[in-house]
Amino acid sequence: MLTLDAEQTVGDFVRQKPTRARVFESLKIDYCCGGKISLSQACRKRGIEVGAVLQAIHQSDELADADTLVNVDTMGLAQLADHIETTHHAYLRDELPRLDAMTEKVARVHGDKDDRLPTVRQAFLILKTELEPHMMKEEMILFPIIRQLEASAERLDFHCGSVANPIRQMEREHDQSGAALALLNEFTDGYTPPEWACNTYRAMLDSLEKLEADMHQHIHKENNVLFPKAIELEQERG
Ligand SMILES: [Fe+2]
Ligand SMILES: [Fe+2]
Repeated sequence: MLTLDAEQTVGDFVRQKPTRARVFESLKIDYCCGGKISLSQACRKRGIEVGAVLQAIHQSDELADADTLVNVDTMGLAQLADHIETTHHAYLRDELPRLDAMTEKVARVHGDKDDRLPTVRQAFLILKTELEPHMMKEEMILFPIIRQLEASAERLDFHCGSVANPIRQMEREHDQSGAALALLNEFTDGYTPPEWACNTYRAMLDSLEKLEADMHQHIHKENNVLFPKAIELEQERG
C-alpha cells in the first residue's frame, strides 16, 4: 500500500493521481490556486480531520481507473501545453459565449424573483472578461516560450527575461479567476436551484458547476505541473 503523506502539498497529491481531484472537489479543498499548501494545513483551514481525508484519498486511489483521466505528470512540456489548449482552452471558447447568453437571459427573465441572479451575471462577466485575454497571453506568449525552452538544449534569452516573470503574472490572474468562481459558487448556494427554477436556470447552474470543475483541473495543470516544470527546465539550461 502506498503511504500517503499529509505534509505533501495538495497540488502534488493531484499531480500524482488526477482522480484525487474528485475527493478534493467533494470536500471543497482548493487544489489549484490554493494547491501549494500541505494537505494537513488545508484540512485545518476547512476544519476537517486529516485522517478521514487520507482514507478517502486511499479509497479513491483504489477505485481509480488510470485510463479515465490523462496523467499530465508523464507528459512533455510542449505536449502538456498542447493538451491544455485543445481541452481546457477549447472548452472555454465554446462555453463562455454559451454561458454569457444563459446568465444574461436568466437574470433578465427571473432577476426580479431571485435577487442573486444579477450578481451571478456580474460575477460571470468579470470571469469571462478576465479569462479571454488570459488564455490569449498563454497561447501567444507563455506557451510558445515553454515549447522553445523544451526544444532547445541551450540557454535562451527571452524578451520577458526569465520564464518565471510571465508565470507569476498568470498565477496572479488564476487567483482572480479562482476568486470569481468562488463567488459564483457562493451566490448560487453551491449551484442549487430554487424549487421554481425553469430549465434554463437549472441548465445554467449545471453548466456553471461544470465550468468550476473544469477550471480547477485547468489551473491545477498549469500552476502545479506545467509552470514549476518550466521554471525547473530554465534553471537546468543555466
Ligand atoms: Fe490556461
Ligand atoms: Fe491559465
